[in-house]
Amino acid sequence: MKKVLSGIQPSGLLTIGNYIGAIRQFVEMQDTHDCYFMIVDLHAITVPQEPEKLREQTESVAAMYLASGIDPEKAVVFLQSQVRAHAVLGWIMTTLTGMGELERMTQFKDKSAGKESVGAGLFVYPSLQAADIVLYNADLVPVGEDQKQHLELTRDLAQRFNHRYGDTFVVPEPHITDVGKRIMSLIDASKKMSKSDPNPGAFISMFDEPDVIRKKFSRATTDSGREIKYDPDNKPEVSNLLEIFSIFSKVPISDLEARYEGQGYGALKKDIAEAVISVLEPIQARYRDIRQSGELQAILKRGAEKANAVADATLKRAMERMGFLL
Ligand code: TYM
Repeated sequence: MKKVLSGIQPSGLLTIGNYIGAIRQFVEMQDTHDCYFMIVDLHAITVPQEPEKLREQTESVAAMYLASGIDPEKAVVFLQSQVRAHAVLGWIMTTLTGMGELERMTQFKDKSAGKESVGAGLFVYPSLQAADIVLYNADLVPVGEDQKQHLELTRDLAQRFNHRYGDTFVVPEPHITDVGKRIMSLIDASKKMSKSDPNPGAFISMFDEPDVIRKKFSRATTDSGREIKYDPDNKPEVSNLLEIFSIFSKVPISDLEARYEGQGYGALKKDIAEAVISVLEPIQARYRDIRQSGELQAILKRGAEKANAVADATLKRAMERMGFLL
């Protein structure tokens, strides 16, 4: 069985962008792959976090994994901070990384733009991400397109290590789906849908109530035309809506185009909202049950035990090869 690892930051409300680009794929892969899904709390602190909020958001992402269908009997679900090997191998990978490589990371450029002071953690964060992945010998990493550059760096660092110290790490491949690899803001289709967008109308949160979802889609920006056609270059807003619709309804985009031929954007937006609500409502109900049940802590503890066993073995192998006394 191929190994899979991925993670999400507990740094705000999850959006349907996270669901489409990541969680939905996690659920699909758990039956056919050996899966490790983590909550990357060590990554979240690359920007300041309130302790109480970090605790709440970490539990919330973990509960949302389970509510969305990740089964802890099939996949290992754990917190990054509960596997200390991440911090150690993260440091080792940082020492293998060039400043120029990190300077080229577009996510760093975006996140640091216009900020007066930026923590060094935000800069070296891709090296920690590389450690996350190689610790579990992951073959595949399901992510959205925005992570592609980080995955390329991970591959380079894994190869560099192997070249220098002998074959140690698996060189992973990103697993990025064609439809849904980059869900855009509902207000400005040139921007990625993001949980940190200051305008909540730009994203659908996994926690939005049905009426909020209806309102956000009804207010979503479209173009001045009428044609419901998938054409990302010329009709980015409508194409984004079609991608969301296709994923939540499980109807191919070409069928949707045929179904809505001659109809206006209003009808399309109404039906998208209902398709999204029909998927999110049961997830939200399960989420509430999981939070109330108190079962989360035990699941994360078991996940951390399994993750630590794998990560410690990889770290030991890497450190031995590098000449550390063990
Ligand atoms: P994060 O927390 O920003 O996002 C989590 C996952 O959601 C995907 N995603 C999207 N996909 C499609 N459309 C969108 N609008 C959208 N927004 C977010 C992201 O691509 C990602 O897959 N650096 C990572 C976390 C990380 C990680 C890892 C991932 C740390 N270590 C190891 C994989 C493997 C991040 O910040 O994701």
